[in-house]
Amino acid sequence: TPVLSVASECYPLVKTGGLADVVGALPAALAPHGFAVSTLVPGYPALAEQIRTGTVVHHWPHLLGVEARLVEARLGEQPLLILDAPALFARDGGLYTDRGGKDWPDNWRRFAALARAAADLGSGAVPGGEFAIVHAHDWQAAMVPAYLRFAPGPGPAARTVVTIHNMAFQGWFDASVFHDLGLPHHAFRLDGVEYYGGVGFLKAGLESADAITTVSPTYAREIRHGDFGMGLEGLIAARADSVSGIVNGIDPAVWNPATDPLLAARYDVDSLDQRAANRAAIEQAFGLAPTEGPIFTVVSRLTWQKGMDVLVEVLDDLVALGGRLALLGSGDAGLEQAFRDAANRHPGRIGLRIGYDEPLSHRLQGGADAILIPSRFEPCGLTQLYGLAYGCVPVVARTGGLADTVIDANEAARAAGVATGIVHDGVTRESLIHAITRATALFADRAAWRRVQSNGMRADFSWTESGRRYARLYHSLGAA
Ligand code: ADP
Ligand code: GLC
Repeated sequence: TPVLSVASECYPLVKTGGLADVVGALPAALAPHGFAVSTLVPGYPALAEQIRTGTVVHHWPHLLGVEARLVEARLGEQPLLILDAPALFARDGGLYTDRGGKDWPDNWRRFAALARAAADLGSGAVPGGEFAIVHAHDWQAAMVPAYLRFAPGPGPAARTVVTIHNMAFQGWFDASVFHDLGLPHHAFRLDGVEYYGGVGFLKAGLESADAITTVSPTYAREIRHGDFGMGLEGLIAARADSVSGIVNGIDPAVWNPATDPLLAARYDVDSLDQRAANRAAIEQAFGLAPTEGPIFTVVSRLTWQKGMDVLVEVLDDLVALGGRLALLGSGDAGLEQAFRDAANRHPGRIGLRIGYDEPLSHRLQGGADAILIPSRFEPCGLTQLYGLAYGCVPVVARTGGLADTVIDANEAARAAGVATGIVHDGVTRESLIHAITRATALFADRAAWRRVQSNGMRADFSWTESGRRYARLYHSLGAA
């Protein structure tokens, strides 16, 4: 059964975060259940090669005012559809922002066009596209159900799923863009696309989708309430029967310490000693002086969501407790500077790589002892799953997908032999210091630490179960 997955990122072609990993992995996760997932992505410069070698299968003279082509290509085994619209996507800079980090002023047109193209594919306006389900990810694709509801093509409309990967980004635009969206006037209403006097892309999708998912059961509950719903809690609560949480899996072809070509030494749960070579490589790469304590790592966007402002405040304590830190990340300029200041205060104990470096992210998971993820909210989180798979023990805040995937090493869990990490309540200096203290003490008990590492490595975070849940959801929408 054909399914169209629509997103603004897809690993390994274009990635700014976990969304890309998930979108890249979905087709293989659903194939065993008889769903043939094609992924539709914008034709950014990074896809120039695929555009050049692919086949043009459709042409829009005026897709929301710009000329566009649909290019059929492949991503490994999986079918890839590219919206080649140079006026919208062929530009240097980020996926969503210019080089200076400012949102592209026409983001509404760029991602409305992506959604309009998907809606055309999902309702018979593009020959050959007969999709039972259109699965839209985040605000950048969330207008698909709104188009299918208010302005469908000539054929039967596909059923729709919107997956919320992050409620914090909603795609809100001034009302003045409405008349260029190609929607009928009556779509601009409270249960349509209108939101606080403007147009809300995510809101429009959540109002119009047949089903809504988010990327963990805990986050699915959290977003019914104000702190996490970010203004959309009422809508989520009202549609609670249509909302479910399906935790992300990890792609074992990309994240497996036994086969990972990026590691200095490969290992599995029975050869954890091999990790020592990777650990030494981290000490070397980050200029860390050997000590007895654990090497903590951070692989993250440096933002408020990720609790990085609190972490940076407890680094003196982390060092005083005997810990070291190897951080890979980029984000808020102020936070980047604060981490640099901390590294300058603690040469040999805190090492940084400010930037984005996919291979280094693998090496850190394969060599550091523990990964710190003190998120204020976390829809799912992938780095704790990579940590679990790599024996890099996650130290996480009890929120969203972190709460659903890490088992705290408390007395009961250790006695039962199921602990996989350290989980702390709240994101405060106090709670972080307490968590780091616990991690450091646990690390000092080598046998106990090894058990926690092994439990995590044995846990199954593959796509098997989550693929099954998405398949069940598609079936519930009538897809055969
Ligand atoms: P989010 O999508 O909110 O940033 P996730 O944990 O779901 O959080 O996914 C983050 C993804 O981005 C992971 O694959 C992680 O390894 C990767 N990542 C984050 N920061 C960096 C970085 N500086 N360099 C390389 N990879 C990074
Ligand atoms: C978002 C969330 C993250 C999640 C990812 C993939 O970026 O912030 O928690 O893991 O999407 O679903």
